Amino acid sequence: MDLLPELTARRAYRSISAEELAGEEVTALLAAARLAPSCFNNQPWRLVAARGEILAKLREALPEGNKWATRAPLLVVFATKASLDCRLDEGRDYAYFDTGLAAMALLLEATRRGLRAHPIAGYSPAKVRKAVELPPDFVPLALVVVGKPGDDELLAPWQKERERGPRERKPLGEVAYDGLWERPWPFPAPEEGA
Ligand SMILES: Cc1cc2nc3c(=O)[nH]c(=O)nc-3n(C[C@H](O)[C@H](O)[C@H](O)COP(=O)(O)O)c2cc1C
Repeated sequence: MDLLPELTARRAYRSISAEELAGEEVTALLAAARLAPSCFNNQPWRLVAARGEILAKLREALPEGNKWATRAPLLVVFATKASLDCRLDEGRDYAYFDTGLAAMALLLEATRRGLRAHPIAGYSPAKVRKAVELPPDFVPLALVVVGKPGDDELLAPWQKERERGPRERKPLGEVAYDGLWERPWPFPAPEEGA
């Protein structure tokens, strides 16, 4: 059973090279995010692509656990605010959902181009806000760390292990249901085997 190759090839790799990315390549990644679907086509995502001087400032927002990300030549801040998108009953605030779709589009385009693109939530939001001059009403929802594949010098031993080990996922039947809540989907995902 084949899936979209970029879906299976994408992983949260931490071995990233410091080599600069071409401006055109960065534009293509941002353009991929722009094509994401959104409620009423509201396009609530705002992306700050940080390179050069701003990137140096943004790196200071990363804690020890995400030190591996300090070498990347590009960090993209995904920001949004709830009022930019549909706010429907039963807690359906679509700004976060739609910004996630935009992030996934960027991840897949990066993967197609042989790049590594790894979303993170581990950073100081206050420092991110300051570094990119994000207005107070926007949420700095995620950073995406982007670069070419590199060596694993900056990685902790467990991080090296994780990178080479198998993909960890719950069984399909635990998260996908067959028509009724918690009635497990009866067939396994390809990598779960028969
Ligand atoms: C919202 C979000 C926050 C994450 N935060 C971090 C992080 O701070 N540091 C990190 O190394 N990985 C982070 N990750 C990566 C996840 O750990 C990774 O996607 C997950 O373990 C599944 O592995 P895979 O993406 O290789 O399939 C984050 C991923 C997402 C979507």
